Amino acid sequence: MPDIMLPIARKSGTTDADIFLLPQRQSQHMSGSGTPFPNEGLLAGRLAMNDMTTPVARPVNPRFSSGPCAKIPNYNLDLLADAPLGRSHRAAAGKAKLAEAIELTREVLGVPADYRIGIVPGSDTGAVEMAMWTMLGARPVEMLAWESFGEGWVTDAVKQLKLDATVRKADYGHIVDFAQVDFDKDVVFTWNGTTSGVRVPNGDAIPADRAGLTICDATSAAFAMDLPFDKLDVVTFSWQKVLGGEGAHGMLILSPRAVERLETYTPDRPLPKIFRMTKGGKLIEGIFKGETINTPSMLAVEDYLIALKWAQSLGGAQALIARADANAAAVRDFIADKDWIADLAVDPATASNTSVCLRFTDPAIKDGAAFAKAVAKRLEKDGVALDAGAYRDAPAGLRIWCGSTVEASDVAALMPWIEYAYRAELAAQ
Ligand SMILES: Cc1ncc(COP(=O)(O)O)c(C=O)c1O
Repeated sequence: MPDIMLPIARKSGTTDADIFLLPQRQSQHMSGSGTPFPNEGLLAGRLAMNDMTTPVARPVNPRFSSGPCAKIPNYNLDLLADAPLGRSHRAAAGKAKLAEAIELTREVLGVPADYRIGIVPGSDTGAVEMAMWTMLGARPVEMLAWESFGEGWVTDAVKQLKLDATVRKADYGHIVDFAQVDFDKDVVFTWNGTTSGVRVPNGDAIPADRAGLTICDATSAAFAMDLPFDKLDVVTFSWQKVLGGEGAHGMLILSPRAVERLETYTPDRPLPKIFRMTKGGKLIEGIFKGETINTPSMLAVEDYLIALKWAQSLGGAQALIARADANAAAVRDFIADKDWIADLAVDPATASNTSVCLRFTDPAIKDGAAFAKAVAKRLEKDGVALDAGAYRDAPAGLRIWCGSTVEASDVAALMPWIEYAYRAELAAQ
């Protein structure tokens, strides 16, 4: 694992020529001593000269998007050479790849042997909605939401499935009180709120002997956070998040109790073919062995396999979790003593280690939304952080993806650029 580098230190692999080419525009506009340049008088008195100098170190990889997320380190397309392209996914070669993806997922995530793992259409949304449409309605339902994606599942339950659900919501930055949740009902929730950077701290509040099912959207949590499978009946995620895979495929993990629900409950609603997991009251076991409902991309499967093997080579889930923890710590260490930026997550116990959301707190900022957008744009223009603006429905700010494929040295190198961009935009207001 790479060491976290001091922000100003030169990154390994950076040559003198690279440093020479770094943008120095703003610093050139400052005289430093002697007669001030005309624009110096316009800057707020609090801005010292050094504040407007571009940082020396740059992230080697500026990809901080929260999905699709950065590819694994040293990724290149040659790694996909073994993909069985132009072949049927039902031929032996294709089926073996799909089965391998399922078994490596089990191994890396530590999924219990009696849980089924399926590759399903429609990315994470497809996996969550398959579970909701096939399982909900058998008993009372609680829907938990503290950001945009959780809200989407509430809409599904209330407006589309028309369930008389108990809905518990918390504002951005907070989480619902799990102590109040009735786990004898079916409970649907998101493990990590990707758009608020708030996550469930652990599964302690979920009783082992619950009567209801827990349906958990873990798309920005799986591989970066400990998922207590004994407390989770349905777990979903997609490939393009923590492992930096490709979009379009969903993973659906089912506990034996979830399978029992599928085999004993027939919802009173039409189910499209891509949602159907049973035939004649029995689970279609093939789906969970790699016989997908419809056609997957074998290129994307190969790409996922590459990422899983990388994960395995690091030592599995614990190593991936440690990488995300180190990345998130690099952000939080930086903001700790700053009075102009803060974590959107209010309680450190529920603060995400993948989608770290930040808000600007300087009262001198005139238009918070425009300011945050301008900072994100500047970071992108400077080539130091791509796609680091807050989600469109979330409070204004930045969102720095800290998932396991991101290097801590890149996160550390980005931090002074955020300060630089903040000061430059403040001066430009
Ligand atoms: C928590 C959460 N749920 C669902 C989704 C939708 O995922 P997908 O595009 O894989 O369907 C996202 C995407 O970012 C997400 O963060």
